[in-house]
Amino acid sequence: MANPSQRRASFWTQANALLRKNIIYQRRNKRANFILISVPLLLCILLVVLQMVINNELNKAKYRCGCTQVNGTTVCGIQYSTSDQATSCPIPNPPKWPALIQVPAPQYRASRTDFIPFSDLPSESCKQTGSCPVTTLVTGNNHTFGLSLAQNLFPTSPLNSPDILGSVADNLVNFLDSAFSSGLPLYVVQPRCLSSMVFPVSIPFASSMLRQEVACAQGLYLWRNSSSDINDELYKGYRKGNPERMINEIVAAYDCLNSNMNNFNVSLWYNATFKNDTGFCPCIDSHSAIGESGILPKLLPLLFFPIG
Ligand SMILES: *[C@@H]1O[C@H](CO)[C@@H](O)[C@H](O)[C@H]1NC(C)=O
Ligand SMILES: *[C@@H]1O[C@H](CO)[C@@H](O)[C@H](O)[C@H]1NC(C)=O
Ligand SMILES: *[C@@H]1O[C@H](CO)[C@@H](O)[C@H](O)[C@H]1NC(C)=O
Ligand SMILES: *[C@@H]1O[C@H](CO)[C@@H](O)[C@H](O)[C@H]1NC(C)=O
Ligand SMILES: *[C@@H]1O[C@H](CO)[C@@H](O)[C@H](O)[C@H]1NC(C)=O
Ligand SMILES: *[C@@H]1O[C@H](CO)[C@@H](O)[C@H](O)[C@H]1NC(C)=O
Repeated sequence: MANPSQRRASFWTQANALLRKNIIYQRRNKRANFILISVPLLLCILLVVLQMVINNELNKAKYRCGCTQVNGTTVCGIQYSTSDQATSCPIPNPPKWPALIQVPAPQYRASRTDFIPFSDLPSESCKQTGSCPVTTLVTGNNHTFGLSLAQNLFPTSPLNSPDILGSVADNLVNFLDSAFSSGLPLYVVQPRCLSSMVFPVSIPFASSMLRQEVACAQGLYLWRNSSSDINDELYKGYRKGNPERMINEIVAAYDCLNSNMNNFNVSLWYNATFKNDTGFCPCIDSHSAIGESGILPKLLPLLFFPIG
């Protein structure tokens, strides 16, 4: 006969016993348990306090969007703010940038070389004198159409005309692009530069004025037979694309594809190295305007900015 005391205890009996043992054990460890529970609580409290302190700091007038009294009502806006305050102002209808594109520095602009087989590029001596034009390449199915489009790439109005300067200053109200913080002049690319002068313009930003110099750069457009010719030329102009490690930068290239008087279908190349570099905020990525606009050939070449 089996002795009942030697029978194995059921699962529930075992669990029950274990639980009781643990309760007694934990009761003796009150201090450790208290610390165990209070650490996460303390952390939560710390986070809440930190949040309150930071919110309180950011809410100070120094960082809040600037306001002023106009005809008895309070009006707030970026135009009444310092540059510290400007970042917290809402901008309900941001104006679009004039399209800006990176322009190679004069000593890096494309010129004739042994490894680029096109004789219509400017001679290499222009690199020494800093007088190289910025080169744009054009291709497409219809030579005549492509060239007539390219002829209108660069604006011809004289550089000191209020048009261009006005459009710079008007369009840039309260927005910044890295082009305006580079310390280098903004180039307006034109078929011929009438003067080598550099004009200062003032751009309103928040409650202050930024000074930006505007200069003329001569633009040159050249026809290429195919997009693969263009790819080849762009690649060879890259420092690592040729055995002599020379830089021959092309500013942009257009493939007019099957475009004609009724159909606008153009693809383009441009250097997007600094695409994400928007200076400091509040800002708009000026280059993103390039992809979305159907009126590109008119807009794109208006203003270029240099990369030293
Ligand atoms: C303020 O009031 C004057 C006169 O009523 C008016 O001429 C002016 O345009 C107003 N200014 C603004 C910013 O509304
Ligand atoms: C090329 O373009 C020109 C000018 O737009 C046009 O007159 C001509 O018919 C076009 N040629 C072809 C083959 O489409
Ligand atoms: C481009 O095409 C023209 C006419 O078909 C030809 O004369 C010229 O040699 C070609 N250029 C190149 C670089 O292939
Ligand atoms: C694009 O711009 C960067 C920075 O200026 C330059 O280093 C690079 O060579 C350019 N790329 C081409 C293909 O010209
Ligand atoms: C634009 O050109 C591309 C490439 O040649 C072609 O696939 C596409 O159908 C063209 N679009 C129009 C609307 O002509
Ligand atoms: C630029 O921004 C896009 C989208 O914001 C991102 O996907 C991409 O990785 C960024 N490129 C660089 C070089 O930072």
